[in-house]
Amino acid sequence: MKYLLKNILFVLCIVAPVCSIASADDGYDLWMSYRKLDDATILKEYQQAFSSIVIQGQSETLGIIREEVKKGLDGLLGADLPVSNILTVGSALVIGTPRESELIQKLDLSDKLATLGREGFLIKSTKINDVPAVVIAANEDIGLLYGTFHLLRLMQTGQSLKDIDICSRPRIQYRLLDHWDKLDGSISDERGYAGKSLWKWDELPETIDPRYKDYARANASLGINGTVINSVNANPDILKAEYLKKVAKLADVFRPYGIRVFLSANFSSPISAKFAHESNRRGGIGNLKTSDPCDPEVRLWWKNKVKEIYQFIPDFGGFLVKASSEGMPSPQEYNRTHADGANMLAEALAPYGGIVMWRSFVYDDSKVDDDRAKRAYKEFVPFDGKFSSNVFIQSKNGPIDFQPREPVNSLFGAMPRTPLMLELQIAQEYLGHSKHLVFLAPMWKEYLEFDTYAKGRGSTLASIIDGNTHNYQMTGIAGVANTGDDRNWCGHLFAQANWYAFGRLSWDHSLTAEQIADEWIKATLTSDANAVNTIKSMMMGSWEACINYMTPLGLHHIMQEGFHYGPQPQLDKSGRIDWTSVYYHRADANGLGFDRSSTGSNATSQYFSPLRETFDDVNTCPEKYLLWFHHVPWDHKTESGRTLWDELCYRYYTGVDYVKEMERKWAALEKDIDPDICLHVKEKLATQEKDAAIWRDTCLGYFQKFSNRPVPASN
Ligand code: GCU
Repeated sequence: MKYLLKNILFVLCIVAPVCSIASADDGYDLWMSYRKLDDATILKEYQQAFSSIVIQGQSETLGIIREEVKKGLDGLLGADLPVSNILTVGSALVIGTPRESELIQKLDLSDKLATLGREGFLIKSTKINDVPAVVIAANEDIGLLYGTFHLLRLMQTGQSLKDIDICSRPRIQYRLLDHWDKLDGSISDERGYAGKSLWKWDELPETIDPRYKDYARANASLGINGTVINSVNANPDILKAEYLKKVAKLADVFRPYGIRVFLSANFSSPISAKFAHESNRRGGIGNLKTSDPCDPEVRLWWKNKVKEIYQFIPDFGGFLVKASSEGMPSPQEYNRTHADGANMLAEALAPYGGIVMWRSFVYDDSKVDDDRAKRAYKEFVPFDGKFSSNVFIQSKNGPIDFQPREPVNSLFGAMPRTPLMLELQIAQEYLGHSKHLVFLAPMWKEYLEFDTYAKGRGSTLASIIDGNTHNYQMTGIAGVANTGDDRNWCGHLFAQANWYAFGRLSWDHSLTAEQIADEWIKATLTSDANAVNTIKSMMMGSWEACINYMTPLGLHHIMQEGFHYGPQPQLDKSGRIDWTSVYYHRADANGLGFDRSSTGSNATSQYFSPLRETFDDVNTCPEKYLLWFHHVPWDHKTESGRTLWDELCYRYYTGVDYVKEMERKWAALEKDIDPDICLHVKEKLATQEKDAAIWRDTCLGYFQKFSNRPVPASN
């Protein structure tokens, strides 16, 4: 027995270290694994710069900073740095606010700090009492946390800290993740592709999953400062006390990370269950017969409910509301307006500093206009200036619905007296779910840089949502989250890059997509220069490739109904490829595309000049929007000189070829990437290639029925 035990111990001693060396990366650590840096020169610079960490002051957030900075520096430098509140000899990283830290106070940074607000920070190399120091200073502890993450990011990407002197503050005030998670723990029919919800409602409030903290930490590392934790198709139960207690526990975990909790509210919540007409979407946790926003009892119900929420969650952020859309209840049911509905909620929230995010995603009523793309503009623009000051109109980037590519929603720029909050989708509902590698930063940059001409040249979408164009008093951006309880959070390892990119752009929309990719790769995968360049080259063209193999030249919404994954055309029983609806593509013997020009639905008229004219003319309309705005003859000459049909074929083939190229590039990186991650991505790419070919063959097969032309041989 003794002999056996000895042998087991021996085997364990041998095997344990081997296991730890081989221990593979499962993606859980996201961009915060803080692997030891392998560039000897930069490592030496950092080691010399930091022989200790000095943090003065006490708060929960400062506790988190101590933990994070220690973990980060120890990991990156392969060190064990002392953390204290006293500056000694050597060199130090000194973190603090002038209020709590006499070391920071002494530096007299007041002029700079005065420009940084609550969340901004500065990082500066200096000397304190003759000790060389890198300083992170801010007005509030949350600024210090953002500064800490920023310093770690600079180090993960190997940037020199000599003479560093930077100031940073967010360009947008509300930077939110919108979760479409249901109360039964599922997200799958709400566009979640990475497992179940992170929120374990059946365990809360007693059990706090450690993952909540990791979630908050990841968001804080990017500057995300709010989270809407339940789906816009809101179950009214979320507002019951039993759920509010659970939500309060999440809010407690998130608070020291600077993250406020918001809830999606169902407009029919005040109605008694016995009066609810249709499933739980129609409300039913109150005792009223109506949810008419002008009814005094309804108004009182919301005031009391809001008061109750703030008793549980003193820093509650406010409500997100989907009304009048896809069957969700609305003020219109009572002949009231969007403004009546939003303002009633705003009035209840205002005393506590809460806000309303009222969505413009409305298209149910075809009486408004035959063209779905025009409805939000028509329903909302007349109410510009009629909303209370704590109401945002939250609008998706495009006029339809998170398509692979859309022109920017014409609402942006058209509501100068109402702050518009931009809603992007991180989850790839229409871009291959968590199966396709599609880096979304280039797409978001295209939208943010889109010039609306609302106040002449330079009225970009970014300048509208950051308040510059119309001097909005509140500014906001939201991203529909792609997280779930999959071990790697997002299903596809590369989908993490989209969460990362959303957060970084919400803080600073002037960052380039390339810089964001560079940071993410170095922090997550490898810092080998060749490998970084190869991966970046895969990522940077992946969005355009996806457009090409799904919806090139402005095609849109030709995905399977409901599931939104593969192409809509299906093989019918007799083996023919057919389509259930031609609404969005309008293919016929003459050509392809939706005529939204002045000869068609005239959606072009909703844009400002000169965009209106540019989009209206088939000869000046940018090719990327060609079939969005025009019904184009099959023999129309495109920019390449090819006919529309030939160009369409060319694009579909190019898209698939890009995926094959990504597979080749990835295969060559085997030695640089963790083996488990390598395999995971390889398998995903194989699926993507198969799917892309299905898209190409199905769509070309279908459109060919109308074009009656052969696929060119050169493809
Ligand atoms: C899309 C999506 C729905 C979602 C809706 C929304 O239509 O497919 O699942 O509920 O957008 O944004 O409200």
